[in-house]
Amino acid sequence: MKKYFNLCLMLLISGLIGCSSSDNSEGVPTDEPDNNGGNAMDLTYTSDIRAIIQANCLSCHGNPPTNNAPMSLTTYALVKSAVENRGLVNRINSSVNPMPPNGRMPLATRQMISDWVNQGLPE
Ligand code: HEC
Repeated sequence: MKKYFNLCLMLLISGLIGCSSSDNSEGVPTDEPDNNGGNAMDLTYTSDIRAIIQANCLSCHGNPPTNNAPMSLTTYALVKSAVENRGLVNRINSSVNPMPPNGRMPLATRQMISDWVNQGLPE
């Protein structure tokens, strides 16, 4: 599962790089902190994602969780775990079973979370 995710991430990143003038050889991951293809802005949990989760999720996914929510999303580690193990990105984009349950967040907000995940969940 993790392997599959990493593969997708690599494909995505190399796809983005392919459109820019970067001379990274194809598909080779680097450790450069800025290696996001130069398109999406650099996002971190602390400066960008935490506030979104606070405003839209913690009314149920607090500590302790309420309204039958199965887990808390109050820390970086918990959000990361929900992305990796609980399909968080799928759920925020689901039209059938969205999170939050009363309606999806604006597209730009959901996109920001997806970009952050694709950038490797920087803290
Ligand atoms: C009104 C309460 C409420 C809010 C607000 C809410 N959730 Fe949930 N969430 C639930 C409940 C209840 C469940 C369990 C039932 C289900 O999976 O639909 C759940 C389940 C989930 C699951 C699946 C967990 C699993 O293991 O299957 C994820 C991921 C999730 N929520 C993420 C979020 C995120 C991210 C937000 C904010 C963007 C959010 N939720 C906002 C109540 C809420």
